[in-house]
Amino acid sequence: MRFGINTLDDVAVTDKTVLCRIDINQPVDRKTGTLKDTTRIEACIPTLKELTNKGAKLVLLAHQGSDIEYKNFYTTEPHAAVLSRLLGKAVGFIDDVCGPAAREAIKALKSGDILLLDNVRFVSEEQTLFETTLLLSHEEQAKTLLVRKLAPLADLYICDAFAAAHRDQPSLCGFEQLLPSAMGRLFEEEFCVISGLMEKPERPCVFVLGGAKISDAFLMMSTVLRGGIADTVLTGGLVGEVLLWADGKDIGEPARAFITKEGYGSLVENGKELLSKYRDKIVRPVDFAAKVDGARVEYQLGKIPAGALVLDIGTATATAYQNSIRGAKTVFVNGPMGVFEEAPTEQGTTMIWDALGDTAAYTVIGGGDSITATRKYGKTRDISYICTGGGALIRFLTGEELPVVKALRHGSAIKQKGNYSVDHVRVTA
Ligand code: 3PG
Repeated sequence: MRFGINTLDDVAVTDKTVLCRIDINQPVDRKTGTLKDTTRIEACIPTLKELTNKGAKLVLLAHQGSDIEYKNFYTTEPHAAVLSRLLGKAVGFIDDVCGPAAREAIKALKSGDILLLDNVRFVSEEQTLFETTLLLSHEEQAKTLLVRKLAPLADLYICDAFAAAHRDQPSLCGFEQLLPSAMGRLFEEEFCVISGLMEKPERPCVFVLGGAKISDAFLMMSTVLRGGIADTVLTGGLVGEVLLWADGKDIGEPARAFITKEGYGSLVENGKELLSKYRDKIVRPVDFAAKVDGARVEYQLGKIPAGALVLDIGTATATAYQNSIRGAKTVFVNGPMGVFEEAPTEQGTTMIWDALGDTAAYTVIGGGDSITATRKYGKTRDISYICTGGGALIRFLTGEELPVVKALRHGSAIKQKGNYSVDHVRVTA
């Protein structure tokens, strides 16, 4: 047991039906129906191998989100094919989550079999909007359709979805009310590494924050500055632009319009407050790049022409950031420095990742875009730790107990025994 949560060493899985929640939410290429990245799927393979090698009847629950917030959920069928390839054994897929077809398929499983259910978010109670509006307690989540239908078929619940540990949803927090529970190997590892890092980071500790999910970045920035974890925060992407705007600097009308249109205008006030408290620790860009007629053009801050949309940090900024990264003992990165998907505006991100590759510091990256950049620039082996979580990691850094951690602690106190019985879920086993 670690952190008050059972590990796989504490539970018996042989011949047991195990519900295992994983996070294999990956960018999907809608045209081909294939996954653009498989990092998260690869990361949960050790847990799945261990469970299946020990003879569990393994039922996998997972969500697949979309690029556009929480709309347009996509099937998990392509994920089953990737899992089969990585595990070297057939992974069954059923286009049902907790209906009769899924339940029959679960009952038919034999030791060592693996079945992936369809996207749990096809069940409305599992959706984030439902989560934020209804605010169901974990006890109430145990009474939702998903849990009522599946829990009676299972002996054990395992969560290996650290990347979704900030979500308060039935597939993540409901089963632990009823079933003996444990965390998987990936969850355990991510929990340990990040806790250790945050408790005692070697100094100087530098955070590099960029990317498009800027409300997350602002939350992280205030957390690590308030908690004294970060000595320096290097800012890029929209994060840097919002801070410069907050500081009264001219980032150009197109950038201001974009920030307003995306609904991030309120973060300018947030930026002012952060600068008033931590000005010396928050480093802002001094130059930028835009794409003009398909080519990269750089501008110093204060000399951005009207109409130019800046999409990357400039060379002087990236060089200063490289020096800071190379002089640090711990570096934490969340988000790229600009639109790194396009050649004219990827230099800032490339330069940061180059420095991450050769610094002697302990380097941690988190979040989908950062993982993609790490792959793109061939730095996977050079980064000390790649965390699958973006939003979860940020919430973790705030110091609040994550909903799934709380639920797993509850489920870890439930003893494993032959038959479990909880009246209100004994509906359709
Ligand atoms: C993530 O990508 O951060 C996790 O998979 C959680 O996904 P969500 O933000 O769609 O809940």
